Amino acid sequence: MSAKQDSLRVAAIGDLHVHQNSPETFQGLFEKISQSADVLALCGDLTHLGLPQEADKLVKDLRACRIPVVAVLGNHDYQSGHQEQVKKVLRTAKVVMLEETETFRLKDVGFAGTKGFGGGFDKHMLTPFGEEPIKHFVTEAVNESLRLEVALNSLRTEKTVVLLHYSPIAATVTGEPPEIFPFLGSSRLAETIDHFDVNAVFHGHAHNGSCEGKTVKGTPVYNCCMQLMERVHPEQPYALVEV
Ligand SMILES: [Fe+2]
Ligand SMILES: [Fe+2]
Repeated sequence: MSAKQDSLRVAAIGDLHVHQNSPETFQGLFEKISQSADVLALCGDLTHLGLPQEADKLVKDLRACRIPVVAVLGNHDYQSGHQEQVKKVLRTAKVVMLEETETFRLKDVGFAGTKGFGGGFDKHMLTPFGEEPIKHFVTEAVNESLRLEVALNSLRTEKTVVLLHYSPIAATVTGEPPEIFPFLGSSRLAETIDHFDVNAVFHGHAHNGSCEGKTVKGTPVYNCCMQLMERVHPEQPYALVEV
């Protein structure tokens, strides 16, 4: 299968949760993806406890990947406070870590990304009112959206792809208990995305969510959690989208 000229086949998967003691290997998966896509997007929770040793294990598996790899971290990658070391290890395998100052371009497609944060969706979104801890929580969500805005502003490509860990819309977390929606993403991310012409958004984090949805503007959003993909498409446990 070959992509149309000027289009790009993006394979996206999130929540690999690589664990030091897990016998699981992703080499076969990365080999398969290399045969059907032009670029691999990793949507956070790459490690289970955010340990550099777990990132090392992933890097060994990524040797089987023959296409460029772009990534954002997830909340699990922050668990041990070694997120900078985790990023450093991944960069040794030429993984492009998407941050406000670091974007990626392949053909005429630009990639921007950030981890994102919680806060809830639409009219139920948390606002910075009341106690200081609530204001800090909302500030973190706002800052993540601003980081994405800076990255998107820096792109000068015809097409744009966004990578997140947290969801920008409620539709792709549907399936999770409604009580935890505020911890699965934030509409602030979608508001930023809809200020630009974005072709596709990929995220993870909601292991029991839904595969596809759209922002208010109509931008397609794909939840590419491995756990969700394995249930819905066991023969292809990743999203594959042509942009
Ligand atoms: Fe996860
Ligand atoms: Fe997560």
